[in-house]
Amino acid sequence: MEVGHTPVMPDQVLETLAPAPGSLHVDATLGGGGHTERILEAANPDGRVLGLDADQLAIERVGARLARFGDRLVLRQGNFRELADVAPAAGFAQVDGAFFDLGLSSYQLADRDRGFGFRAGGPLDMRFDVTRGVPAAELLATLSADDLAALFRKYGEEPAAWKIAKAIVAARASAPVETAEDLAALVERLVPGNPRQPRRTHPATRVFQALRISVNEELDALTEGLTAALDLLRPGGRLVVLSYHSLEDRIVKRFLDAERRGCVCAPEAPICVCGHKPRLRLVTRPSLVPTDAEIEANPRARSARLRAAERLAA
Ligand SMILES: C[S@@+](CC[C@H](N)C(=O)[O-])C[C@H]1O[C@@H](n2cnc3c(N)ncnc32)[C@H](O)[C@@H]1O
Repeated sequence: MEVGHTPVMPDQVLETLAPAPGSLHVDATLGGGGHTERILEAANPDGRVLGLDADQLAIERVGARLARFGDRLVLRQGNFRELADVAPAAGFAQVDGAFFDLGLSSYQLADRDRGFGFRAGGPLDMRFDVTRGVPAAELLATLSADDLAALFRKYGEEPAAWKIAKAIVAARASAPVETAEDLAALVERLVPGNPRQPRRTHPATRVFQALRISVNEELDALTEGLTAALDLLRPGGRLVVLSYHSLEDRIVKRFLDAERRGCVCAPEAPICVCGHKPRLRLVTRPSLVPTDAEIEANPRARSARLRAAERLAA
């Protein structure tokens, strides 16, 4: 069966990004190219998009699918934490909008070679960019129980972190946890659902999220990517971010709040010594969420939260 990725909150994304003829936009998380396609259509006949993704397969797939846009779509494989270098080098030194749709795509979730999901299974790699970093299975094979538990707590907010970490380390002696199926089964054994309270989510969801965030250094990349994107925006340009869990959303919210307020001094400082000026005005206050109809049609949208801000002249 052909896997597709349905773009989340497409109307709200377009409304807040406001592409127009002649505009330049950066899509920092190209994925299946769903949002990029809509931006290009709205920016007919000559608006351009730089589509970036850490995953080379995403670049190749979208290159073929959206070839009809010709040189209006510029594609680059790379991490959005490197946007400050990648965008100017690609001719996008000052842009009208930058968009981040965080996390992973349905293509990646279904990819049996990378073990992103407990349903698809496969070897536990979980890297967006398979040319860099360390696969998830290597973390499970080498980290101490303390470090694994800390990782599951920090990036998954997993209440049974210690129990799961101990079991993974114990399993190394006889049957190391190397596949998504192994990991899902181990967590399910330790954290069974209450049959009278069927869970909405699989018991291993938080552990999978934690590993993926750690393997891809997602939270550090997000902070660096947002900072770089803001520097690229021309006055009046828009920054739009879709996040899917509280760890991501907290970073986005704090970033936008700090740039809206200006001052970045520690809260206990009696007077401002940083001299930092506000660089953003919030466009969505506080944030937008999908409609019930969208969630019904696309359950992946369930936890989405959209925040948008506009670059000030300062
Ligand atoms: C949710 S999908 C984007 C879906 C896309 N908006 C669409 O409608 O088809 C997120 C994509 O961002 C990519 N990604 C995640 N973190 C990244 C990073 N730090 N740098 C570049 N790409 C990243 C993933 O590889 C994935 O393809």
